[in-house]
Formats: sequence, structure tokens, C-alpha cells
Amino acid sequence: MKKKNLILSFTFLCALLVVFTACNKEAEQDLPYKNNNLKLPAEVAEYRVTELPESFANQISNSQSLEDISNEVATIGRVLFYDTKLSVNNLVSCGSCHKQEFAFSDPVAGSTGFDGDKTPRNAQSIVNCFTKKSFFWDGRVRDLNEMVLKPIGNHIEMGLEELDELEVKLANTDYYPALFEAAYGSSEITKEKIADGLTQFLNALVSIDSKFDKAGGEFFFNQEGFTASELAGAELFWGRARCADCHSGVNMRGWNDEDVANIGLDVEYKDQGIENGHFLVPSLRNVALTAPYMHDGRFASLRDVVNHYNKGIQDHPQLDSRLRGEFGWDPTGDPTVLNLSDKQVDDLVAFLNTFTDEVLIADTKFSDPFVR
Ligand code: HEC
Ligand code: HEC
Repeated sequence: MKKKNLILSFTFLCALLVVFTACNKEAEQDLPYKNNNLKLPAEVAEYRVTELPESFANQISNSQSLEDISNEVATIGRVLFYDTKLSVNNLVSCGSCHKQEFAFSDPVAGSTGFDGDKTPRNAQSIVNCFTKKSFFWDGRVRDLNEMVLKPIGNHIEMGLEELDELEVKLANTDYYPALFEAAYGSSEITKEKIADGLTQFLNALVSIDSKFDKAGGEFFFNQEGFTASELAGAELFWGRARCADCHSGVNMRGWNDEDVANIGLDVEYKDQGIENGHFLVPSLRNVALTAPYMHDGRFASLRDVVNHYNKGIQDHPQLDSRLRGEFGWDPTGDPTVLNLSDKQVDDLVAFLNTFTDEVLIADTKFSDPFVR
């Protein structure tokens, strides 16, 4: 009798346990991601950058000095960057399209926004914003602080058009009020502080540790430790392949960060860019990690890109003169004159691979702090 009772109560307890776990599971599944599972380091991370390589002297373009970054404000920026609450239906964060392992770019041609729609252009790597004077493929935004709120309201990206709503939404979490209190001495949440947090986090995304950086960049280039193929690629990049006519400076971007070009991708561009197929000359920093390539992500590999410059350039009436003729300056010259051998294409790709910064993509202070 006693034994039977014991078995009965044991069965009852088991049943209870099963019901309890099932309910719990349901509660968890209600949240698309477990947003409240925020894990930050016990001691606030160091986001200030006090030492930049010599090649970066005079490269700071925006008003924020990297030494003046507030660690507490950048921490808010990190949480915001990865928080799906910034989208209208809690499904996407900045980090959904700017992924750390790909140097904060997206490995697909068009990124998926909150509603499943695709962005018309490829999501760029967003490192070294502190050096940039213009943003987006067409350079349409000139100020980082103004830029950072744009994706939140964008109808494809995050869809949260009323930023006042966002202030309320964030105030109703169990983590933002405390984070804002720690950073600003007041738990009040405003759009200005949200922009400040994101800006300071983006400014802290500093990429200075590639093999190319360690060799001194283009101005102080020291060949030591470079393979024969990488060096042959460097010679082509700065020489006959004329890449550096457009890609130069610490980020291998356009001259003065403002240069634009039509590189003859098509005879008729679907997306006209600034106008007539002109796009801002993009950064080649970490380029081995940021496939697919071009504003529309049409090329899957760096080999495909180099082959475009080698023999794929289309004779667009607005084709940049630097891509015409043997030395560029002839506006009527033949754009297909490059004629690199397969080996030379490999060499160029090998050199482009030296722009990769492995330190940045492994740095945990830039990683997703939510346990999903
Ligand atoms: C749905 C995907 C998506 C989301 C979400 C998203 N972005 Fe982007 N981001 C893009 C795309 C696509 C571009 C390129 C757009 C263009 O050039 O027209 C871009 C461009 C940028 C740039 C310009 C980089 C440069 O060098 O010009 C910055 C900075 C940026 N995003 C920051 C953010 C921040 C901050 C957030 C979150 C508040 C965010 N993005 C959310 C897709 C996304
Ligand atoms: C006339 C200026 C110019 C020259 C010369 C030039 N580029 Fe470009 N490059 C651009 C522009 C502009 C784009 C973006 C075009 C677009 O998306 O429509 C670009 C895009 C790229 C991209 C894709 C970047 C990304 O993030 O998608 C790579 C890689 C690249 N160039 C490498 C090279 C190499 C290697 C050479 C030399 C063989 C070279 N470029 C020569 C202007 C130039």
C-alpha cells in the first residue's frame, strides 16, 4: 500500500514537472530572441583608442576624438547595435546586417530587413568610420551622428519611423535605464543619447591590425614578411593595374574620401548611384571578408573582381578615364588593355588578402552581448 502511494505521488510529480517545463518553454518561445538575456562584462570594457599607427596621422575626419570616447556610452552603443528592439517588430538589429565575422558587412548581395524585404544595395563593412567623411555607396550622408539613426526609420531595414516610440520602448526594458544612468548620470532616454551611443560605438570599431597596417601601410610600406606573390600583387596594385589611382590612403578608399567613379560594370546601370553609374570609391580594408562585392553584390569572389578590371570592363560613355588606355589618361582608350595573366590575378588577390584584420573580428568587446 505504502509502496503504491509512493509510486503514485512520484508519477504525479513527474507529470507536474512535464507540464511545468512545457509552460516554461512556451513563455520563452513568445520572444523572438531572448532579448533580456544581456551579458556584459563585470568591468566596463575599454573602447578608447590612444595610439594609432603612424599611417593614420591626420586621418580623423569627424569631431569625435578616439581618446574621448566614453566607455559607458560606447557600451550603450554596443547593446543598441545588437538589440532587435530597434526594429519595429523586434526581429532585426544593426548586427543582423553588419556581422562582426565579416568585418561588420553582410555576406549576401541584399540584406534582409525587418519585413523580409531585401535592401537594394550590399551592406558595407562599417569599420574605421572615424576616418570617413561620407557614408553609403553614394556618399549621400556626410555626418556619422546623423547617419546612425537612419537605418532605424528605414522602411526596408528596421521600419521604426517614430523615434519617440523607441525612447519609450527602451525605457520599458530592464536594462537601458541603468545603462543610461551609468553613462550620463540620468536614466532618461532620448534620441540624441541613442545616436550618441551608436556613434561612439561605431567610432570605436577601429581596424588597424592587418598585415598591411603592420607593414606601415602604403606610405611606409616595409616588405619584410611578405610573400613573393603578395609583393608582386602590391607592385601591380600601385603600378600597371592602376588600382591605387582610386583606392588609396589608410582604408584604400577614394582620394580625400570623396572620389567617385563609374567602373564600367554595365553599359546601362540599373542603379545609377550618384548619377550615370558613379559610386563612391569603397574601402578595401578587410576586403577578403566582405564578399559579395560592388554596390549590388554582383561578384562572389575577389578573383571575379580582379577579372572584371582585367577583361570585363564595359565601354560605358561615363567610364572613368583612369580605366581607359594603357596609362589611363586617354578618354578614347581601350578599357580592356590590362591583360593580366592568371598568375598576376592570383598575385593581386594575395595582396588584397593582406588587408584583413583578424584582431577586430575576434574582439569580444565588439561582439553580440545578448545570449540568444
Ligand atoms: C536590413 C539590413 C541593415 C540594418 C538592419 C542596418 N544596416 Fe547599415 N547598411 C545596410 C546597407 C544595405 C547599407 C548600404 C546602403 C547604401 O549605401 O545605400 C548600410 C550602410 C551603413 C553604413 C554606411 C557605411 C559606409 O561606410 O558608408 C553605416 C555606418 C551603417 N549602415 C550603420 C548601421 C547602424 C548603426 C545600424 C543600426 C541602427 C544599421 N546600419 C542597420 C544594411 C543594414
Ligand atoms: C577609376 C577608379 C577605380 C580603379 C582604377 C579601381 N577601382 Fe576598385 N572600385 C572603384 C569603385 C567606384 C568601386 C565601387 C563600384 C560599384 O559598386 O559600382 C570599386 C569597387 C572595388 C571592389 C569591391 C569593394 C566592395 O566592398 O564591394 C574591389 C575589391 C576593388 N574595387 C578592387 C580594385 C582593384 C584590385 C583594382 C585594380 C585592379 C581597382 N579596384 C581599381 C573604383 C576603382
